[in-house]
Amino acid sequence: MLDPAQFSPGIQKTLLTSAPFWALEHELAVRYFATELRTEETDKRWIGHQMFKEWTGSGVYGPRSTTVATMIREVAEEIVGLDSGSVAPNPLRSTYVKLSFASDELRHYAQLHDLYLLAEKSSPPPSIADLGYLDGGRELTELRLKWREDRLGEIAVDLSEGGGLGLYFGIRSSAAHLDSSAEVDREILEVAERTIEDETRHLLGRFRSAQKHELTEPDWTRISALLREISHQKLIERNEQFNFVLSDDEIAKVLDSPDLELAQTFLTTHLGFLLDELGLTAHVD
Ligand SMILES: [Fe+2]
Ligand SMILES: [Fe+2]
Repeated sequence: MLDPAQFSPGIQKTLLTSAPFWALEHELAVRYFATELRTEETDKRWIGHQMFKEWTGSGVYGPRSTTVATMIREVAEEIVGLDSGSVAPNPLRSTYVKLSFASDELRHYAQLHDLYLLAEKSSPPPSIADLGYLDGGRELTELRLKWREDRLGEIAVDLSEGGGLGLYFGIRSSAAHLDSSAEVDREILEVAERTIEDETRHLLGRFRSAQKHELTEPDWTRISALLREISHQKLIERNEQFNFVLSDDEIAKVLDSPDLELAQTFLTTHLGFLLDELGLTAHVD
């Protein structure tokens, strides 16, 4: 059993502390897609809110005003002045990395926009700002923006991107409950698969970058605690996004007595590449 208590503070323990939250997010998605809780209205609610998240990053992309659009503008400003006679003023690797990230997130937004139009044929989606109306989502953004100001908090915010892909892996696990004769359901599965392609890279990149910092055990203890706080709020947000399929007790229980078996199953089924990266594979039962 991958029990965080068996590990000294470090990135391994940080991953294991977060995994129960990610695993419950996976359960949330499975429950939503496998039960009667799902309606056309609830579909529009989760897709719309996800569009907002992909566009704004909910505090992950940078300071408050950062969006996919501002990232692309920054990249454009770094390169529009270059012509065949110029010498780039800075190394361009960071420009390319930022463009690639913004391009992935633009794709996620665009594919969800198309999905929204399949779920709601009679009118276009509301504005991006209007899609971000969930209380739990606003609190998540504020929490991330607060911790971004802190050296260790910023690492925790970075590691919180995507929540271990609990939602998208949950959609993958729900394939049998989706209706392959319905266009919306087919597209939900395709969106999940295309997003998993990009977000597994983002997740691995975030964990690799975190390992490059020179951090002490107390630093990691703090990062773990902050990531736990963010992951908890992220679960509250997800639950609101998916029409409260989890009870408050289930969410509170992850803080007090996390289900390590569920977390291990989630990690080994979906995030084997991250267990490999962090040297945890040998510890799996
Ligand atoms: Fe994304
Ligand atoms: Fe991402």
